[in-house]
Amino acid sequence: MWNTEMEHPKTEQDLVAILSLTDSEEIEKLYKAARTLTEEIVGEKVHFRGIIEFSNICAKDCYYCGIRKSNTNVERYTIPDNAVIEAAKWAWKAGYGSIVMQSGEIESDAFTNKITDLLNAIAKETNGELGITLSLGEQSYETYKAWFDAGAKRYLLRIETTNRELYKTLHPADHSFDVRINALKNLRKAGYQVGTGVMIGLPGQSVEMLARDIIFFKEMDIDMIGMGPYIPHHQTPLADSMPDFEKIKERQFQKGLIMIAATRLFLRDINIAASTALQTLNNIGRELGIMAGANIIMPNITATEYRSSYQLYDNKPCLSDTSSMCHHCMEMRLSAYGVEIGLNEHGDSKHYAKRQ
Ligand code: 5AD
Ligand code: FES
Repeated sequence: MWNTEMEHPKTEQDLVAILSLTDSEEIEKLYKAARTLTEEIVGEKVHFRGIIEFSNICAKDCYYCGIRKSNTNVERYTIPDNAVIEAAKWAWKAGYGSIVMQSGEIESDAFTNKITDLLNAIAKETNGELGITLSLGEQSYETYKAWFDAGAKRYLLRIETTNRELYKTLHPADHSFDVRINALKNLRKAGYQVGTGVMIGLPGQSVEMLARDIIFFKEMDIDMIGMGPYIPHHQTPLADSMPDFEKIKERQFQKGLIMIAATRLFLRDINIAASTALQTLNNIGRELGIMAGANIIMPNITATEYRSSYQLYDNKPCLSDTSSMCHHCMEMRLSAYGVEIGLNEHGDSKHYAKRQ
């Protein structure tokens, strides 16, 4: 049952109560409370981060992910460096305060140096004005530090789930939970604003586990959250655990929004992204994510020709669109909700600013 005390969750039990809501009117009240708090603390504006998925080559084999190493159906690509720099310049000129550079996970000296060079080149071409966030998986402390020194100031590394047992069912034995936790600690040590997150509605995931995920975000003093509903990819092993996904799609979407709202009410001053996965499950999913307490949108700035090869889950939206189509589309979508966009601003999380 929703009551106004639920607007101030303090304990795991409070979070479990929120995450267990099923009545649609009560859930609407939850979203409303989360959006109101967002406007109060973070502000009314939504910030854009252009995301460029510059390579789908990946050394990992996560059971849920469409670009896992064992998926031989995927055509592998790496966008040439000069095209990545051009995309960054496009985003800068379009008024994006920052971009996210994401790829599959590759650990090598050559890769470390390539990214360092790209960071330097982008800073030079954009007057050092464009904020850069990296999302390149687990790397050594030295690599994180080198990239930070080259100008990346934020890093996204989802923990995926904080439940060790569940983690094991999602990954091969050599994908270590402890290594991932340690990577998050190293990111903080290297000086980054750190973002993490989880997938919501995984096979075998309970509301208690999700509540503990949110507590983990707080314990780790996380600055940014990117999380979204789990969506099966038909060429992955985990898809077999959810054969009837179409039937549970709506609740899966709702769980995604409820997690955003609960996280907003519990962590208050952090940045929360409305993930693209939300739009796969509902045509206005990202807008509804904003109305449930998110304040960041990541429009895709990957060149159209590569998009179909970067599908982590089935039915990813915007596959045949261009950067500028996604930009205008998101502007239009948000204006339909009376939401303003913060252009030419980095949009650092208030939480991070406070810690400084
Ligand atoms: N459904 C939803 N999200 C997924 N991700 C990977 N595969 C899926 C999927 N099938 C998410 C993971 C990863 C991020 C880049 O994409 O959380 O960290
Ligand atoms: Fe890409 Fe709407 S956001 S087309």
